[in-house]
Amino acid sequence: MIGPLNHVGVAVPSIEEAVNTYKNLYGVTDITEPGEMIDQGVRYCFVNLPNSQIELIEPLGDNSPINNFLEKNPKGGQHHICFEVEDIHEAKKYMEDKGAKVLNEPRIGAHGTLIIFVHPKNSNGVLVELMETLK
Ligand code: CO
Repeated sequence: MIGPLNHVGVAVPSIEEAVNTYKNLYGVTDITEPGEMIDQGVRYCFVNLPNSQIELIEPLGDNSPINNFLEKNPKGGQHHICFEVEDIHEAKKYMEDKGAKVLNEPRIGAHGTLIIFVHPKNSNGVLVELMETLK
């Protein structure tokens, strides 16, 4: 049912420092400028790799949903993985029919398409983001 792995989300205390790591340690040159999703409490950018992306996310504001994660993982850490789906509403219904806990109503994510998150308890401890394929 799921399509390609779109990206791996990594929470970091500083996007600028993390970008430097990908540039200087891993030699990546294609990294997007940081953007902000104020309503979702994150700054983000994408490290573009030949076959996928790393999404760097930094908390924005006191109510950021990743503040708790960074309190537990002060240096940052792997936060979620994101798979593409054709239709987010269909995917949400499918997941809920299977008994999975979907954490939000579909909303626009960093790629400009609809996303939902599925609780880690349903996926071996991994927070899963599903996003509609960019058409
Ligand atoms: Co993501």
